[in-house]
Amino acid sequence: MRITTEKNDIDSVLFSEEQIRTRLEQIAEVLTEEYRDKNPIVVCILKGASFFYVDLCRKLRFPIFMDFISVSSYGASAQSSGVVRIVKDMDKNITGRHVLIVEDIIDSGLTLKYLKELFASRKPASIKTVCFLDKSDCHQCEVVADYCGFSIPNRFVVGYGLDYSDYYRNLPYIGVLKPEVYE
Ligand code: PRP
Repeated sequence: MRITTEKNDIDSVLFSEEQIRTRLEQIAEVLTEEYRDKNPIVVCILKGASFFYVDLCRKLRFPIFMDFISVSSYGASAQSSGVVRIVKDMDKNITGRHVLIVEDIIDSGLTLKYLKELFASRKPASIKTVCFLDKSDCHQCEVVADYCGFSIPNRFVVGYGLDYSDYYRNLPYIGVLKPEVYE
């Protein structure tokens, strides 16, 4: 691992702060239509979704209950292990409630598939998913987000919550990481 500086390590900007903000407003409008009378539990999948989640929640014009679950499938690796580990579970009982899962990225799809099955076993009134980025060419299982920010090619992206080995999450844009950083 050779992490140096943002200037050295980022190959290009895939989505700027401005592009992120515009797309977020569009998604928030659609969600407001869907959930205005449903009092949903909106769940952040830590840590990657944290920036998207907070920015999205403050644009939602209806009452929500915020909750957080922390899972890990990548550890310090660039490849998904396929095994999802719950680091911290939610606080709230979701039985009978409308649940909106907020994810940053679908890559192999294994994390979201696992979470949807886990949440379904807890008998909510409904489960939907909103995912900021979708690497649709990389899915290793059948999984579709109900709402998606952007479909992206198979590039190693960081920033706006997404990391490589826990670095780069605080970049305000989505950037493509230079291969020499992780190869
Ligand atoms: C990342 C990301 C998603 C998941 C997507 O989480 O935040 O939750 O991987 O990958 P998948 O579709 O291949 O399962 P990670 O396990 O790296 O934890 P983090 O959110 O704390 O970075």
